[in-house]
Amino acid sequence: MLPSRFVKTTEISQELRRRFAEARNVLVLTGAGVSAESGVPTFRGGGTSAVWKGMPFDVISSADMVQRNLPAVWEWFDYRRGVLESLKPNPAHHEIARWANRFPDFTLVTQNVDGLHQRAGSRDVIELHGSIWRARCVKCDSRHQIERGSVREDACLECGDRLRPDVVLFGEMLPPGAFEQAALKASQCDLCFVVGTSALVYPAAGLPEIAKKRGAYICEVNPEMTGLSHLCDEVISGKAGEILPLLSETTGRE
Ligand code: APR
Repeated sequence: MLPSRFVKTTEISQELRRRFAEARNVLVLTGAGVSAESGVPTFRGGGTSAVWKGMPFDVISSADMVQRNLPAVWEWFDYRRGVLESLKPNPAHHEIARWANRFPDFTLVTQNVDGLHQRAGSRDVIELHGSIWRARCVKCDSRHQIERGSVREDACLECGDRLRPDVVLFGEMLPPGAFEQAALKASQCDLCFVVGTSALVYPAAGLPEIAKKRGAYICEVNPEMTGLSHLCDEVISGKAGEILPLLSETTGRE
């Protein structure tokens, strides 16, 4: 069943304008689609899914592969970091970064590991799936930043053991506390945006459901319908980089 308001254009409804202007507590959940206009390939969408050297991404990006062939996992993440080196945040990232100063209470939760939200100026981003710009020791669990343009460390500087990407891989748990923090914020928000996610991966896709139960207004921005569209009060079919900036425009107040 289509949601009560299905807007097939870049239109911002009166209802959403009003709620955007009056909101006190806003939560934004983003997925790979928010970075698509920056040139970051999505995992799914458009009927395809990412493949690396003949291996589906959920095989190379798995806990099992870390056990079996950590160098291959690093090769995949080194390649992805290489792609990201030259890419920049797009208007969607910049708009979301501005919202942090607009609403008394604002939470940005992302499934993305690309760091583009932070490069656009977002702070305190809840990274549900970790970050491609960090490595983690398989033994002492210490985190190590990987600076842009630098060669990553081979071994843990603390204990000398092997490092792995600090990214949540298939078959792994989310970072301790990340989802709990996001779920608490989702249960308190009055306006929730779901931007650029196919909503196929849980528990992330469960956050808008928590917000909905709390009575929040749920707005999805995605060129395609998703597993969450039926739950949303409003679905805006379009690209995040084109749609999100319209929200500040239409309500005037930066
Ligand atoms: N603006 C908004 N949405 C877009 C855009 C765009 N410009 N371009 C594509 N999309 C949408 C697609 O229609 C699709 O619904 O973004 C979504 C991307 O979906 P996925 O590739 O499945 O990415 P995501 O939902 O973030 O995946 C969740 O799965 O692979 C794991 O850990 C990985 O974090 C990832 C998780």
